[in-house]
Amino acid sequence: MVLTAVTSKSDTAVSLTTPRPTWRTHVVSWVFGRVKYADTILNRRAADLVKKLDIAKHLQRDGLYVDIGAGTGHISVQMARAAYGLGARVIGVEPIMKPAKRAVARAKHRTDVPVHFVKGIGNRLPLPDHTADGVSIFFVLHHIPYDIQLAVVREITRVLKPGGLLFIWEDTPENEREYAATEVRDRRLNFESRSEPHYYRSGDQWLTVFAEHGVEMISRSYFESCPATPSRAAVRHTGFVMRRQTNNPAGI
Ligand SMILES: C[S@@+](CC[C@H](N)C(=O)[O-])C[C@H]1O[C@@H](n2cnc3c(N)ncnc32)[C@H](O)[C@@H]1O
Repeated sequence: MVLTAVTSKSDTAVSLTTPRPTWRTHVVSWVFGRVKYADTILNRRAADLVKKLDIAKHLQRDGLYVDIGAGTGHISVQMARAAYGLGARVIGVEPIMKPAKRAVARAKHRTDVPVHFVKGIGNRLPLPDHTADGVSIFFVLHHIPYDIQLAVVREITRVLKPGGLLFIWEDTPENEREYAATEVRDRRLNFESRSEPHYYRSGDQWLTVFAEHGVEMISRSYFESCPATPSRAAVRHTGFVMRRQTNNPAGI
């Protein structure tokens, strides 16, 4: 069972393989780029996730913020809206999806913060060392194999300035039943195939991983998109605001 294996420290053989687009990815990009209703849902969800972590309160004047796994771009744009008036910049990094046209238009007209979308992967970010004031990574890590997740965490600590912030949302099942329920929901929401793998960790397991990489928690948030019933396990989501320690014990 995957949950017991996730804290293994032996997962160091890192592949830099870029995820490949499928016909589903193209359909999702098209739907969320063109259909107004779909765009509205994603935009509201992004605004809600940014608000739940109270991100606006943490952003700095002239800051550089990187959104990893930007997908349709809605999160990157809401990060920019949270930084309104701060003279900040946002870079959305995404390996396969194109940002939705409506999200790009919103970035141009509803915020004064430039948002640039670049093609790239979280385990090889297109940024020099210690240049980012903050990194957001929402619902991305569980799509990445466990060994590569650790490479992404190392990359995040590489690009973050000492004291830089990390904003994270993840699906965080706590037992096998929840793992299975979360996977079913994930596949349904993301139009994934039935064989699409996921690599979840519980909220506490994520804290351990980040602590091992010199990233400490500032605050923790939580919600359930499906509460538990007698016949169904809960689908849990945990958010963290974290800080890269100035003296990084991982030596990165
Ligand atoms: C469920 S979507 C989340 C998109 C967006 N963050 C949001 O919450 O709306 C997961 C995204 O992670 C991206 N992704 C998968 N592997 C990645 C990697 N190694 N590096 C960066 N992004 C990755 C996928 O292409 C996809 O766009």
